[in-house]
Amino acid sequence: MQILVVHGPNLNLLGTREPEVYGAHTLKQIDDDLRQKAQEAGAQLDTFQSNHEGALVDRIQAAGRDGTRFIIINPAAYTHTSVAIRDALAAVALPFVEVHLSNIHRRESFRHHSYVSELAVGVICGLGPLGYQLALQYALNHRGA
Ligand code: DQA
Repeated sequence: MQILVVHGPNLNLLGTREPEVYGAHTLKQIDDDLRQKAQEAGAQLDTFQSNHEGALVDRIQAAGRDGTRFIIINPAAYTHTSVAIRDALAAVALPFVEVHLSNIHRRESFRHHSYVSELAVGVICGLGPLGYQLALQYALNHRGA
């Protein structure tokens, strides 16, 4: 079971970026924790962060060829703007869970719409880093399904 975790723009700044909104965990802490939990469950987990839309599209496209079976994605600001990321997810047709650290529905109205939710197996928002862990648990529980 190969799982890909994709993080969009500015998530490299987690830990120092608006900690009152996004919490104190760094991206490395989140990724290390996910990698360890996946490993304990006998799965392989790869992580990717980029501030560039095209790089995110390229990585999602590669997931369609590299044996990835499940994607966990926080497209960050591109959630609300990117038809290209939505189209890449549709093209590879891999099951994915959309994660947001903050509750996007309690925030500015421009964050309420997501271009990718419609294609997602599920959406988790507002639970901080736990959201990624729950998404991983879902992916592991649905292996082979
Ligand atoms: C985010 C929410 C987005 O609206 C924002 O642009 C982000 C992070 C979240 O994880 O809460 O960068 O995806």
